[in-house]
Amino acid sequence: MPEERFISSELNVKEEAFESSLRPLCFADFPGQDRVKERLQIMVDASRERGEPLGHLLLSGPPGLGKTTLANIVANARGASIKTTSGPVIEKPGDLAGLLTSLDEGDVLFIDEIHRLPMTIEEYLYSAMEDFVIDIMLEQGAGARSIRLNLPRFSLIGATTRQGKLSSPLRSRFALACRLDYYRAEELCIILRRSARILNIAADEEGLHQIARRSRGTPRIANNLLRWVRDYAQVRGANHIDSATADAALHMLDIDEDGLDEMDNRILEAILVKFNGRPVGLKSLAVAVGEEVETIEDVYEPFLIQEGYLMRTPQGRVATAKAARRFGLDGQPGGSPRQPSLF
Ligand SMILES: Nc1ncnc2c1ncn2[C@@H]1O[C@H](COP(=O)(O)OP(=O)(O)O)[C@@H](O)[C@H]1O
Ligand SMILES: [Mg+2]
Repeated sequence: MPEERFISSELNVKEEAFESSLRPLCFADFPGQDRVKERLQIMVDASRERGEPLGHLLLSGPPGLGKTTLANIVANARGASIKTTSGPVIEKPGDLAGLLTSLDEGDVLFIDEIHRLPMTIEEYLYSAMEDFVIDIMLEQGAGARSIRLNLPRFSLIGATTRQGKLSSPLRSRFALACRLDYYRAEELCIILRRSARILNIAADEEGLHQIARRSRGTPRIANNLLRWVRDYAQVRGANHIDSATADAALHMLDIDEDGLDEMDNRILEAILVKFNGRPVGLKSLAVAVGEEVETIEDVYEPFLIQEGYLMRTPQGRVATAKAARRFGLDGQPGGSPRQPSLF
């Protein structure tokens, strides 16, 4: 499924390499998220002026909006080294202790997918974040004893697609929590122009704009679509991305004028057609469209809600009138870019 490649928050090695080639290293090269950037810059400047390590920082938001990128930019801006790990990788308290004791004063520890940290590990993190100590149990059973390790004063940056899944003791230990929002098409255009330059792709403004407005407000998707449109332009076009080429290439991926992709459409279609417009529980919806509950919640739903196609109600997920219009189901002819197809 093409979406996999575009939205996943877990990337393979090749994708990592592609992403890091396009990853901005400083605030100036990072368009969008103005309010978040402003707060982060203040945090960095204040910590530099006081000569203290950065406060712990939590970044949340859907995949591909720039959490990892910002973590690195913040560390760079503060002149701190950054070590990266991820929630599910830390299995034992010893893993965490090993990581923390390997840090130097002022270093940043970046924990991606921090909501997937096992509960037992999370508890060790509390004292590490608050008092820069960690108590480790040495043996089990009768001989059990714990030793206290003093840690360097480090900064934790956590990233999560699900702020709601974090326990409140953990959340409250972050000095600053920032939520990233979807990007406007004009911001994505600036990002794409930079990416096209780095990748040596010939593209005009209209071509980039076509890609930008169909990228679900997400830089990762925009960059990946740029790569696809480049391939298309090379094989079927004149090796140059203009509006018509971008349009044709994106149509081939079933990405339509409004930027909704195949799975977005399947979700709306399921609610409207399969469930006859009744409120649908998340699990039933997931089964109906053949996608995981988590992915629907983290990736698809936030965008559909923001764009006004979907609502979350106590009874379940409901498609809005805008969604019905899209599928020509509001009784008004001609409002539909696509007829619903039963699947
Ligand atoms: N504001 C931005 N400006 C430029 N590129 C961005 C921006 N936000 C994200 N990107 C690019 O999108 C890709 C995904 O960003 P990333 O930080 O890995 O997202 P997340 O960690 O939130 O999933 C990276 O290649 C990154 O360079
Ligand atoms: Mg990331």
